Amino acid sequence: TSFAGRNAFVTGGASGIGLGIAKALAKRDAFVIIADLRPDHIGKALKAMTAEGLGESVIAMELDVTDRAAYADAARRLDDELGGVDILVNNAGVGVEGPVLEATYADWDFGLGVNLGGVVNGLQSILPQMIAHGRGGHVVNTASLAASVVMPGHLAIYAAGKAAVLNLSENMRADLAAKGIGCSVLCPGFVRSNIHEAARNRPAHLREGSGFVASEQALAKRVVGNDWMDPDLVGEMVADAIVANELYVITHGQFANRMRERAEAVLSTTPPSAIQF
Ligand code: NAI
Repeated sequence: TSFAGRNAFVTGGASGIGLGIAKALAKRDAFVIIADLRPDHIGKALKAMTAEGLGESVIAMELDVTDRAAYADAARRLDDELGGVDILVNNAGVGVEGPVLEATYADWDFGLGVNLGGVVNGLQSILPQMIAHGRGGHVVNTASLAASVVMPGHLAIYAAGKAAVLNLSENMRADLAAKGIGCSVLCPGFVRSNIHEAARNRPAHLREGSGFVASEQALAKRVVGNDWMDPDLVGEMVADAIVANELYVITHGQFANRMRERAEAVLSTTPPSAIQF
């Protein structure tokens, strides 16, 4: 299936998974608008896409997804100048991590602000035009496999935000369907990207008083594993899921047992009931 004539808006689209999604959609003839916080990532992404012959199918804008006023402006321009968004990919995220008991409000606000708030702002800013133009379309939200298993404490804020994104996607799918809009949630395992650069993506006012400084310095030195998945492959999985309107896009199988253990732990303490809701 071709996405010709469709506009795809991809947040965090200038690196890693977002760039993989941007490429996959452009390869299937969508017009892609990359939105990203980082001008250095944007420069490299446009070069990479041009090198792959996709330069005519992409433009980029600088946007911080936590900035609601800027997001509203961007939405207006997308509608006025490009005819509106068809495929909304709420993908921007940060690898916030640190000892949860040492978290300060700066750490909560940074982690949840981008990873959950960015999705909320994407929906609030872009969905109205998608519904108004009546062409249907699709929403993809990037969560994580961290949303579906019990994670160590240093990833608690990350996992909490991602669990919210997973739930939100599941719970809004029927309402979107009623408007002709599909919905998928991407839950990746390890994928090659720049997610270890969390500290660089943290705004100055949320650095002050952070309890995560040491963890973010350690994370910045993490080496990306060679066996981690190629983000271009993740992009292809997402494009396929849009075509098939599949709710879940699960990239890796290695968390399957932990997913089952968690579900069984909840069920094992659930009282039997004859009452049907
Ligand atoms: P990445 O760091 O390579 O790409 C994320 C992009 O988002 C970057 O270009 C960054 O500049 C941008 N960004 C960060 N904060 C932003 C903001 N406030 N506004 C706009 N753009 C912003 O990382 P990756 O791995 O590609 O991450 C993409 C998504 O995938 C994230 O939501 C992440 O949580 C999720 N994910 C990644 C996994 C992995 O192994 N790489 C695993 C599971 C989920």
